[in-house]
Parts: sequence; structure tokens; C-alpha cells
Amino acid sequence: MNRLVSMTINGEVRELAVTPNLTLLDALRSEGGLTGTKKGCDVGDCGACTIVMDGKPVNACLVLGIEAEGANIETIEGLQLAYDRPHPLQQKFMEFGGSQCDFCTPGIIMMSKALLDENPDPSEEEIRFALAGNICRCTGYTKIIDAVRATAEELRKAKTL
Ligand code: FES
Ligand code: FES
Repeated sequence: MNRLVSMTINGEVRELAVTPNLTLLDALRSEGGLTGTKKGCDVGDCGACTIVMDGKPVNACLVLGIEAEGANIETIEGLQLAYDRPHPLQQKFMEFGGSQCDFCTPGIIMMSKALLDENPDPSEEEIRFALAGNICRCTGYTKIIDAVRATAEELRKAKTL
């Protein structure tokens, strides 16, 4: 039986029809039309489904849609809303080659956003630790780390202007 669950997604209040066992990942993709969040392992191992829920990064495949009642959800689709261009993380990933096939990228970028929101000046070790649950088969990670560090620097500079 479907139940309507109300949540704020990328700044917009939405109601999604979910069954009791539908994951938030599937609810966002199938009911919300937000397919930017990727479905990899579906069991919490790969990080491809990472979104930000009430300010914290979560694996959307491990959250039920009904658990998101009243939550504030951020997905890759909403990332650039505060900008008139792609978000600095997206720009730096393009610039540094932090994305190749792109399957892991939405999850890695959302995890990186959550990290930079909490820690604007992370060390390389802190970035690697934050991204330890996000698997990338293509890049070898170094370009991802470089892109996150460069974004952090750009955002810090922008705040001091
Ligand atoms: Fe959620 Fe892999 S799809 S962690
Ligand atoms: Fe292909 Fe990361 S860019 S899995």
C-alpha cells in the first residue's frame, strides 16, 4: 500500500508515494524523477547513492522512503542552485579529471560537499577518510582528492573576498 511522504528535496517541498519497503534511493529515482543519484550495490558498500539528509551524508539505499518524512534532502540535481553555473565541486572535478565514467561522481561529490560544509579546510588524510566509503573504479582517486582540495581552497578564498 502506498503512503505519501512529505520531504524537502533541493529546497522544494515534495510528496512521494512510497511502499513501506521502498528505499529512499528508489523513491528519489522512480517517484521523484531524480536519477542523478546512482544505484550501485544497493547494500551500502559502494557510496554511489550518497545524498545529504538533514545535513549529513547518507547512503540512500540504506534509508527507507518512509524514514524521510519531514527531512531536508539534498541531491546532485540541487547542487548548483545557489550558483549561476555548476557548483565549484563540479567545476573542479571537470578541471582535474576527477570523473571518468561518472557513475560514482554524484555520490562522491555529495559526500565531498558534506565534508566541506563541516570542515572547510580538510587535510588530504581527512578527505581520503571521508571518501573511504565511495568506490571509484576509474580514476585512482588522486584526481578526486586534488579536485576536492582545490574546491576547498576556492571556497575559502571566495569567503574572504
Ligand atoms: Fe547505496 Fe551502493 S548503492 S551504497
Ligand atoms: Fe568511473 Fe568513478 S569515474 S567509477
